[in-house]
Amino acid sequence: MSLIGKKIILGVTGSIAAYKSAFLTRLLIQSGAEVQIIMSASASDFITPLTLATLSKKPALSQFQKNETGEWNNHVELGLWADLFLVAPISANTLAKFANGSCDNLLAATYLSARCPVMLAPAMDLDMYQHPSVRSNIQKLESYGDKILHAESGELASGLSGQGRMMEPEHILAAVEDFFASKSDFKGKKVLITMGPTQEALDPVRYISNHSSGKMGLALAHAFLQNGAEVYVISGPISLPVDKDSFRWQDVKSAREMYEAAGALHAQMDICVFAAAVADYAPAEIAPEKIKKNSASLSIELVKNVDIAAKLGAQKKQNQIHIGFALETENEVENAEQKLSKKNFDMIVLNSMKNAGAGFQVDTNKVHILHASGVAVESDVAPKNQIAKLIIDQIKNIPVWV
Ligand code: PMT
Repeated sequence: MSLIGKKIILGVTGSIAAYKSAFLTRLLIQSGAEVQIIMSASASDFITPLTLATLSKKPALSQFQKNETGEWNNHVELGLWADLFLVAPISANTLAKFANGSCDNLLAATYLSARCPVMLAPAMDLDMYQHPSVRSNIQKLESYGDKILHAESGELASGLSGQGRMMEPEHILAAVEDFFASKSDFKGKKVLITMGPTQEALDPVRYISNHSSGKMGLALAHAFLQNGAEVYVISGPISLPVDKDSFRWQDVKSAREMYEAAGALHAQMDICVFAAAVADYAPAEIAPEKIKKNSASLSIELVKNVDIAAKLGAQKKQNQIHIGFALETENEVENAEQKLSKKNFDMIVLNSMKNAGAGFQVDTNKVHILHASGVAVESDVAPKNQIAKLIIDQIKNIPVWV
C-alpha cells in the first residue's frame, strides 16, 4: 500500500536507536507520506536535525520558539495536521511523560494535542523494558488507545541480549501501512456505542448503579475511530480521561436517558454496539428529598427499566448490525446464547465474572464471542484495546458487512 497523501508526525527521542529513525524517515517518504519530524531535546545527542530534515524534506522541529521574533511552532496545529502521530524510538522517559500528561517539550505538547491515532515504538535496555513502571506506562498508553509497536529481541547497545530493540524500520513501515489500509474499513459508517454504567436515582443524593468503568466501551470507540467510522457514544457516568471532541459524544445518567438518546440516533446507524451495563431496575419513584434513616429497615419498590438493546433490536433493519455484550456469573454460554437471539443481536461478546483479568474495571478482558451464525471465537486475557480490535475483526465477518 502506498502512503501518498498521508501526513505523519515522526517523533524521535534520545536513544541509540535514533539512528534507525533516519532509515524510517526514508522509507515513509519513499512510500509517499509527508513527514514532519519532531525531536525531543536529547534526540539530537544521537542524530542530527540536519540528517532528519534532509531526509524528510522539512525542517526538523524541537523547540516551541521558531525564531527571535517570537514566532512559534504551534503544537495544536501540528497535532491537528497529522493523520498519524508516530514516535520511533520512544525512550522510557518520553513514555512516562506521555502516560502521565507531562508536557515540558514540543513533542509531548503535540502528543497531548493530537487527535489522530498514535503509534509508539519503544527502545531501551531489556531490564528497563521489563521494569514495572515502564510496563505500567505502556499499559496506560494502550488504555488511551495508543498502539505500541513492541520492542524486538536481539543484541542491545549495552551488550546484553533480549527484548528492547526498537522494531526494525521495515516492520514499522508495514504496521503503518496496515493501519492506513484497515483505517478505511469503516469509512462512511456510523457506529453507535452505549457504554459505562447507568445511575438510577433514589433521591437527590443516592442512586443504584454498578461497577462498569467504561473502559471496554471506550476501547471500542477508539478502535472504530481508527478504522475510519463516525462514532456516536452514549456514555453513562464514567471518570476516564476522554477526548470527547473526537466523537459525537453524549453523557447520560439513567437507563431512560440512555434509551432516549440511542432511540433518537438508531435509524441512521450502520452498527450499534451495546457495551453499557444498564441497570435492569430503577426505583419506582425518586424521593424529592433525601430519604431519612427513621426506620430499622427500608423497602424500595423497583420497576423494570426499558431494555435498550431489545427494544432497538426489534426495530433493526436488514442492513444494520447489532452487537451485544453479556456479563454472566453462571451458565455463561447458555445465557449469552439466549440474549443473542432474544435481543436480535448479530453477535454477542460474553465476558465472565469468573475470569481473572476480565469484566468490570480492569484494563484487560477475556471474551467469548458468539455469532448468530453459530461461529464462536474465544480470546486469551488481553488489554481491552486488543479485545476491541478482535471484536472489530469479528464484525467484519458478519454477512451484512461482507
Ligand atoms: O466498563 P468496563 O469496566 O470496562 O466493563 C465492561 C463491561 C463488563 C461492562 C462490558 O464489557 C459488558 O459486559 N457490558 C454489558 C454488561 C451487561 O449489562 O450485560 P447484560 O447481560 O445485563 O446485558 C446484555 C446486553 O443487553 C448488553 O449488551 C447490555 O448493554 C444490553 N442491555 C441490558 C439491559 C438493558 N436494560 N438495556 C440494554 O441495552
